[in-house]
Amino acid sequence: MDARALLEALPCPVIPVVVIDRLDDAVPLSEALLSGGISALEITLRTPEGYAAISAMKSAFPDAVIGAGTVCSSDAYQRSVDAGADFVVSPGASEQLFAAAERHKVPFVPGAVTGSEAIYALEQGYSTLKFFPAETSGGAAAIRALSGPFPQVRFMPTGGITLDNMDRYLNLSSVCAVGGSWLTPADLMAAQRWEDVCELARRTVQRVHEVNSETNK
Ligand code: 3PG
Repeated sequence: MDARALLEALPCPVIPVVVIDRLDDAVPLSEALLSGGISALEITLRTPEGYAAISAMKSAFPDAVIGAGTVCSSDAYQRSVDAGADFVVSPGASEQLFAAAERHKVPFVPGAVTGSEAIYALEQGYSTLKFFPAETSGGAAAIRALSGPFPQVRFMPTGGITLDNMDRYLNLSSVCAVGGSWLTPADLMAAQRWEDVCELARRTVQRVHEVNSETNK
């Protein structure tokens, strides 16, 4: 399955971007998000716990879609695949990352925010792109503009997206999913308030339904 098929098949097109500081949080956090109606998670490799968190989540919830994020080298790609990641996301792209993606066949979402970066990814056969950092790179208006010359591209924007502005992105037909850390606020994580995380996920899923019905998607 390629990245576009995987992302478009998600019942909920919102992907929490997760930073795990304590490995023990991995399973209860994923349980809270999944019970709140979230379909897929991106576990960043910004902390050393990232790989083990992916493995723990996949062991606890084998059917959940658990991706690795902040993957910036072929070594990190390899370790993400070994940890059981269902997809791999990078804030950018490189020859090494594309080579790793070809070797491992786990869906890859490279990052791109400019025309040249989009062309580079398209040349390698990748048309589903992370648009990061979304808000400071022009937001939904920039994605709409890029869709003119690149109608074949689908974007997964992240960076500065919240419950209050995600509708601007979800309204675009070129957006297949949105992501962000607003579903895992640092204070709730630190206090292990999983019920509150679950409630935040529920509110987000509810908002997605509202956006879809407003736009008759
Ligand atoms: C990412 O890696 O996608 C971003 O760090 C998420 O950005 P946010 O924290 O602004 O949601």
